[in-house]
Amino acid sequence: MNGIEADSALVVDSLCKSYATRSGAYPVLQRVSFTVPRGAFVSLLGPSGSGKSTLLNILAGLEPADSGVVRVLGRPPHAPLPVAYMQQKDLLLEWRTVWGNILLGAEIKSRAQRDAMAEQARELLREYRLEDFADVYPAQLSGGMRQRAALIRTLLCEQEILLLDEPFGALDALTRRILQRHLLHVWESMGKTVVLVTHDVEEALLLSTRIVLLSNSPGRVVDSLEINLPHRVRAQSTELLRLKTQIYRSLGHDEENIFQSA
Ligand SMILES: Nc1ncnc2c1ncn2[C@@H]1O[C@H](COP(=O)(O)OP(=O)(O)OP(=O)(O)O)[C@@H](O)[C@H]1O
Ligand SMILES: [Mg+2]
Repeated sequence: MNGIEADSALVVDSLCKSYATRSGAYPVLQRVSFTVPRGAFVSLLGPSGSGKSTLLNILAGLEPADSGVVRVLGRPPHAPLPVAYMQQKDLLLEWRTVWGNILLGAEIKSRAQRDAMAEQARELLREYRLEDFADVYPAQLSGGMRQRAALIRTLLCEQEILLLDEPFGALDALTRRILQRHLLHVWESMGKTVVLVTHDVEEALLLSTRIVLLSNSPGRVVDSLEINLPHRVRAQSTELLRLKTQIYRSLGHDEENIFQSA
């Protein structure tokens, strides 16, 4: 194992993926490589259709890549990955209540572990303002509430690496900001490694320690930026503005509305 890999939670090496279509193979990811250091907060930032969800599916082991490898925490290739995955579609089970959904993973645990998870679940429901909805079925929730429930379920999985696909997409700006802060708190206090998919440049800049930029379809890595600023000073930082300009340039745009038209 080389020096880079020793400190890495995830090493993604030359991933390629195509889907078969009537007119032939349609490339979605082209030789995508990046590393996620242990304890990092890495955002995968790219326009719609750049293959971000496909990439997370591959990292989570739900889909095979055509070629390339993903290695985790020094484990052999193809070993099960220690990831909790919140997919873009929330995948809540409609026949279970919010409580039943968020504690799905507790059912295979010991009694003591179940009790500890239930305690943590109650706390998270309070923080996410869902405490009055524990006995409600997903169909009775708004899009943002469903998203919060799905995020709680993912946080309760107790895996070292969190894969989050646009977890704040359906939220209003204020709730989004509150939950972004909460995610930062979870990341800092629980020592998690986070891989966040977003097409929101501001979100990536405010949260990440590294941003991996993906091109328009087929997704290639066009740039990778380190952000070493403390999170609490970011909103006022001129360095952040400089990085923002760099991101738009790397994606081949000077305008800031490229993702809105996607
Ligand atoms: N199962 C599939 N079969 C065929 N094509 C697929 C499949 N899944 C994704 N694609 C195609 O792959 C490309 C990338 O899709 P993907 O969902 O990974 O993009 P994305 O970056 O997550 O987009 P968004 O930001 O809109 O969520 C798209 O053109 C999509 O149509
Ligand atoms: Mg997606």
